[in-house]
Amino acid sequence: MTQTLPADATATGHTATSPAASGSASRTWRDRDRSAVSPAYSRYTDLVIQDGEGVHVVDVDGRRYLDLGCGIAVTSLGHRHPAVAAAVHAQVDSYWHTSVVTQHVRQTEAAERIAAIAPGPLDTVFFANSGAEVVEGAIKLARRATGRPGILVFEGGFHGRTMGAVTCTTSKAHYREGYAPLLPEVYVSPYPYCLDRCSHPPGAPCPIALGAELERLFARMVAPSQLAAMLVEPIQGEGGYVVPPAGFLGTLRRLCDQHGILLIADEVQSGMGRTGRWFAVDHEQVVPDVLITAKALGNGLPIGAIVARRELMGAWDPGAHGTTFGGNAVACAAAIAVIDTIEREGLLARATAIGARSQAAARGWQAAGGGPAEVRGVGAMIGLEFRDDAGRPQTERVARIRAACLEAGVIVLGCGIHDNVIRLIPPLVISDADLDHGLSVLGQAVQATRP
Ligand SMILES: Cc1ncc(COP(=O)(O)O)c(C=O)c1O
Repeated sequence: MTQTLPADATATGHTATSPAASGSASRTWRDRDRSAVSPAYSRYTDLVIQDGEGVHVVDVDGRRYLDLGCGIAVTSLGHRHPAVAAAVHAQVDSYWHTSVVTQHVRQTEAAERIAAIAPGPLDTVFFANSGAEVVEGAIKLARRATGRPGILVFEGGFHGRTMGAVTCTTSKAHYREGYAPLLPEVYVSPYPYCLDRCSHPPGAPCPIALGAELERLFARMVAPSQLAAMLVEPIQGEGGYVVPPAGFLGTLRRLCDQHGILLIADEVQSGMGRTGRWFAVDHEQVVPDVLITAKALGNGLPIGAIVARRELMGAWDPGAHGTTFGGNAVACAAAIAVIDTIEREGLLARATAIGARSQAAARGWQAAGGGPAEVRGVGAMIGLEFRDDAGRPQTERVARIRAACLEAGVIVLGCGIHDNVIRLIPPLVISDADLDHGLSVLGQAVQATRP
């Protein structure tokens, strides 16, 4: 097994390199890429992909990889799912784009379908092209609706790369470095990431989840009357697949209600069935004021959605916010097909089953000794956090695990503020046989890297 750590590999974790991906075609394409494409891309692997089908991708040297990363939680239905491909083809043969020159039928349909799966009273949709864009839109909506400036976010959160979104992002300082001045009036409070920062016994009530830090912030730094919104990931994604203690979202809902603050749930990564329910907030029966989603919504076509009650969305009169491409007909056709497919193929239940199977395997590695320090997750959004006996993050080990998986033909992603978490986000259409193969390869890598 070889492992190289390129200079640009600090932002999203180390780039996993595979000797098997060093075929001549791959080398040529990597050279061309180096000359033509911005060095800003911090790629998770050195693979050069030219084809994808189902749960596999194929590189330019013809090597097939099992894709357990889904292009960072996007291709939940696998690559080129026939139903999504058919919907996209049909739309391409009809019309592609009108922007706000007209209203168009596919966008109305997509909005109706998204409203139908969103929690309770959230019935109105604004479309954009990406996660960062829906974060920006939600911040603007909250400020306009409340007339207040403040946005409260949570440490370790990731919300995107545009100026407002990156201001709200605190999972790595590198993402913010060199971009000051950032958006004013953004406040950061701890997330209840108990393994990393709490001193209470495991399972005991967590003061952060109960709101102690928020009350402290309100008393010392910003009066709650100045806050337009709390922006929270119900399960932190890039920050480490951190599942907060039950009740945390309820605490946020209570404090928001008490102080007239809007609760924005960023479900860009956790939404669209990944956790076994349409949205992660559904597990806690907490209804946010604004829900934002993107990534898996289009299964690879660029689309994001801001969902809110009609009266709140009414804070935007015509022209108060806008987009040229958002809600594009082809992307909307894909989103409708994604929702249809998740319903038709029973993929919410499948996400739960994938999660149970994966967590059972990972707990077996734990029981054997030298496995992950913590196995956590909801549905098919699973984090395996690696720490040594003294609690120190095993960053290099996670890089070696990922490289070993890649060498064996399995793509596995990392995440976490210390880059010491394996994130398992298998496609929801994966068969038990393919999942077991991926887990077996991962289990061997965990075993081989035991200290
Ligand atoms: C929770 C969350 N919000 C927002 C974003 C930004 O999404 P995008 O990269 O589509 O702008 C991401 C991306 O990883 C995310 O995980």
